[in-house]
Amino acid sequence: MRKLLAVMLIAGGMTFAADGAAIFKSKGCASCHQPAADTVGPGLKKIAQAYAGKEGELVKFLKGEAPAIVDPAKEAIMKAQLTMVKNLPEDQLKALADFILSHK
Ligand code: HEC
Repeated sequence: MRKLLAVMLIAGGMTFAADGAAIFKSKGCASCHQPAADTVGPGLKKIAQAYAGKEGELVKFLKGEAPAIVDPAKEAIMKAQLTMVKNLPEDQLKALADFILSHK
């Protein structure tokens, strides 16, 4: 019984924490965004700093409803990626935004 409970806790904890990170990976975002270093796209840390306290703005950007504020000169590259996420349900967009914002 104790073992079963432990397994349930681990599994439950993983789904909770994995959400935004899993979406980020499964949508291919990680190929252009590293946690800290700027590569093709800005590092998640830089994005998290630009959107600190502005989760709502970040969700809007992910829906294609707000302009880029991190690197507007390269906005076209990123806007093309939004087709992958802009129609996700609100709770998944929030999880994705929270995952990005967790990199400050
Ligand atoms: C082909 C490379 C590429 C992929 C794939 C990519 N991005 Fe980006 N991303 C960029 C570039 C370049 C920028 C800088 C331009 C900009 O700021 O919009 C950027 C910027 C961003 C920003 C900052 C927006 C702002 O206000 O400036 C966010 C948030 C973001 N990406 C999220 C994502 C998410 C989520 C995914 C996966 C669906 C993703 N990116 C996939 C290249 C990419």
